[in-house]
Amino acid sequence: MYTDKVMDHFSNPRNVGQIENPNVVVKVGDPGCGDAILIFLKIDSGVIVDIKYKVYGCGAAIATTSMASTMVKGRTLEEALEITDESVAAALGGLPETKQHCSNLAATAIRAAVTRYMHPPEEKVAGQADPH
Ligand code: FES
Repeated sequence: MYTDKVMDHFSNPRNVGQIENPNVVVKVGDPGCGDAILIFLKIDSGVIVDIKYKVYGCGAAIATTSMASTMVKGRTLEEALEITDESVAAALGGLPETKQHCSNLAATAIRAAVTRYMHPPEEKVAGQADPH
């Protein structure tokens, strides 16, 4: 059974949507179930000032992504990196055993987005020869 908090976030997910001109966008999927999240962050002076997402997934994936978004909005990048599937599940009052993995999607996506922002993949300089 789901807790009231899970049902609340599933029925009324917070921060759903898309950010125009985000600082970083990341897509993370769970190959086990096929569910996926597209997450957008707006970052200013090391703080996540806005977060939006689109979820293709189960009810628990929606609820956990919603809760995770509220946990990192207004937080520093360092604080956001500390989010875990356990902390998201705990904030929701727990998840059924078979749904534990669903919280991993949101926590992984947020950590991946922050990490990409802090360490962006190197871009090739136009006109530069590729040594490979
Ligand atoms: Fe895939 Fe829940 S079943 S995230």
